[in-house]
Amino acid sequence: MQHLITTSDFTNEEILDLFDEAKIFKDLTTNKALSGKLIVTLFFENSTRTRSAFEIAAKRLGADIVSLDIGTSSGSKGETIFDTVANINAMKPDAIIIRHSECGLPATLAQHVDCPLINAGDGKNAHPTQALLDLFTIMEHFDGDVKGKRIAIVGDARTSRVAGSNKKLLPRFGIDVCFVAPDCFKLEGNDFKQYDNLSEIIDDIDIVMSLRTQLERHNELYFASIQEYAKDYCITKEVFGDRDILLLHPGPVNRNVDISDEMLKDKRNKILEQVSNGVAVRMALLKKLIK
Ligand code: CP
Repeated sequence: MQHLITTSDFTNEEILDLFDEAKIFKDLTTNKALSGKLIVTLFFENSTRTRSAFEIAAKRLGADIVSLDIGTSSGSKGETIFDTVANINAMKPDAIIIRHSECGLPATLAQHVDCPLINAGDGKNAHPTQALLDLFTIMEHFDGDVKGKRIAIVGDARTSRVAGSNKKLLPRFGIDVCFVAPDCFKLEGNDFKQYDNLSEIIDDIDIVMSLRTQLERHNELYFASIQEYAKDYCITKEVFGDRDILLLHPGPVNRNVDISDEMLKDKRNKILEQVSNGVAVRMALLKKLIK
């Protein structure tokens, strides 16, 4: 039995095989590969894309899906997360998908369940299915020729589980990762090149991934307001010029803070393509893990 807790759970070969399967699912036609299977989702944090994409992926594969309504669950009566998961596990689902604010929780829970457990985001630690769909989108854009491409991840990397997963996954496929942010959003440590402004490297990069500013996760900020931040870090037409750069964002986008309205209409942004690919990649993932 295999779980997906971080992208390191899969070899490069497994990921490429997964992508081959996802390409087949790209047209999103139904396929009954998981007919008779039951999947449970436990989203302890809000979600638009990840939860919907998993639910659509499961249904398109013919599986049944039960999404626990966390607001009306017995957590409000003092039940621990461990007991909640033990009880769901006792109902014998074929997979459990969980999003929770506690870093490392899915790794611990995986040791106590009898079915594949998929991490749909744990705090600021990891978001493996987002990184997989990001890599799939990058590979699709460059026809698989991604070795040596350079990506600048712009914004709040310090609290971003998307950055946390991508900084580990993308270099495995030869993509050079750097970060652009004010000091309060920079990563700790010196493992990656980090810049103050995108203008320093805009002529040398192939991909920009903008991130949402997660003000709720910070104690200290070094700018007066979100508008002050946006003056320096919002991706605008002025910043991109006519350069041939692929623009990505995991969502949700804060319009005119992360990316301008104009750039959200620009053909170089593939944000909704990421969302479509998220269904295809998750279909391939569910088919891979559920036996
Ligand atoms: N990308 C992402 O995780 O979006 P949601 O929070 O809407 O799932």
